[in-house]
Amino acid sequence: MKKNQKIVVANWKMNPVGLDEAKKLFLGIKKISSKMTGVRIVLCPPMLYLSDIVRLLGNSNIHIGSQDVGQKEKGSFTGMVSAKMLSGVGVDFSIVGHSEMRALGETDVQVSEKICSAVKTKMNVVLCIGELERDKEFGYFEFVKNQIVGSLDGVGKNYLKNIYIAYEPVWAISGKSGNKSVLPEQIQEMVLFIKKTLADKYGVGFKVAGFLYGGSVNPKNTQEILEQGGVDGLLVGKASLSEKNFGEILRIVDGL
Ligand code: PGA
Repeated sequence: MKKNQKIVVANWKMNPVGLDEAKKLFLGIKKISSKMTGVRIVLCPPMLYLSDIVRLLGNSNIHIGSQDVGQKEKGSFTGMVSAKMLSGVGVDFSIVGHSEMRALGETDVQVSEKICSAVKTKMNVVLCIGELERDKEFGYFEFVKNQIVGSLDGVGKNYLKNIYIAYEPVWAISGKSGNKSVLPEQIQEMVLFIKKTLADKYGVGFKVAGFLYGGSVNPKNTQEILEQGGVDGLLVGKASLSEKNFGEILRIVDGL
């Protein structure tokens, strides 16, 4: 394994619609990545497919993640799947606080409870944060700060080592801004701001698992974002559903 190994997290969202297709996509990525040592790969398929995909892992180094995790361990919580249940079937990552969940009403309080539940079960968390828009008054910095502080409320410093912070400007997700992602320097600036916010909350010696960028990542912008964006990895949505595009992204990251 390389010293500064990068991480690429694939968020399949509510795709593909059939299990066979999901297995095919997984096996394709498994094959492409079988000899890669420079990239840590996490695939997050829909909840329903997790067990089947874990069974296909074999001796691959790929990690399997969920796209959400329940706040509670067990009990009368209709529709929820707990961290313990996920980890019990071999899932060791979870995306938490994705903007598409927040848009459906998920609050910072729920996000923080989900994070606590996941890290206490020794799962790794990919916490998503990001502004809805870039206003001219720079209010988006305050927005991101509030989101971090709220999402990590009650999360102890010792758990940060299992938490990746994914900066995902909502306006840049899935080509909303003409298939453009933010400029690498804008990512770098925000990552610095996030680090400062974390230092204010936890003290300068804090250590998170890493910083990711997500929002219209594709084979064309991968290298630039990783080399100039000040991040340790990527969170990839749409491009992770294409074996060709995702394979290309992995090859680029592996070669850096
Ligand atoms: P995208 O999605 O790569 O399609 O922009 C990223 C995400 O929503 O996590």
